Amino acid sequence: MSESGDPRPIGVFDSGLGGLTAVRELFRVLPGESVAYFGDTARVPYGSKSRETVTRFSLEIARFLMRQDIKCLLVACNTASSYALETLKRRFEIPVVGVIDPAAGVAVTGGGRGAPVAGGSPPPRIGVIGTQATVASGAYARALAQLAPGTTVVSRACPLFVPLIEEGWLDHPVLRQVAEEYLGGLRAERLDGLILGCTHYPLIAPLLQDIIGPGVRLIDSGAEAALATAGLLRRRGLLAGADQAPQHHFYLSDERLDFERVARAFLGRELPPTAIVDQTDLPWFERSIPH
Ligand code: DGL
Repeated sequence: MSESGDPRPIGVFDSGLGGLTAVRELFRVLPGESVAYFGDTARVPYGSKSRETVTRFSLEIARFLMRQDIKCLLVACNTASSYALETLKRRFEIPVVGVIDPAAGVAVTGGGRGAPVAGGSPPPRIGVIGTQATVASGAYARALAQLAPGTTVVSRACPLFVPLIEEGWLDHPVLRQVAEEYLGGLRAERLDGLILGCTHYPLIAPLLQDIIGPGVRLIDSGAEAALATAGLLRRRGLLAGADQAPQHHFYLSDERLDFERVARAFLGRELPPTAIVDQTDLPWFERSIPH
């Protein structure tokens, strides 16, 4: 790469807007990098779909992002990482980073954005919450067992969280009631850490912490994956040069009525210009959204 670094964007995708929590962390740690984000708002949620369908959607999106000349791909969706990561790694030559290994690594060995959950014996007790697909895939249990044999893993599928969060019902009493239902039983598990195995969940982290108790460390899978991506780009000499201004491109497969408000909550700032695209391999269209 030239002295000016690699100016190509980092490709990021999610089933919807949740992956913006990973982009938020990318913006924080790599402010000079360009991001090309794809949110599959036309087909969210992925968490109730089959491995085959999620893999097909992931391949279509990755191909779309490849056409935007990305230098690496961050799969900012736990469901897609659980089902499609190996296929994506095999199909594309650029580096592909998922959310499972970075979050599992931080859960059992520490590092990342916080202090270690457990420093030695006894083996840690880790909770995992995510979509039905992520939990059913067993991807976290496998990663945790490989990283720290003996780790106790307690998993809970929380399928109603994604639609409620995408709806923007972050302070709604219904959300608290649903969260109590899902997490109440985990309080007795004496967990050291709870992996937020869905990139939508950081938006409701205060509520989850309140329900699970202050002694349980929450691990943000999207943010940890963003940190892992930053480390990979540094190690491989793929960072953009300091002299270039980043250029972000955001794409959605459907324009939801209030997506700007919800996206702002995920991203923590105004959304860069966003286009609606059909990412399938059928002839695709693109139109811009008037602000
Ligand atoms: N953000 C996605 C994840 O991390 C949400 C999954 C879904 O679309 O159901 O799994």
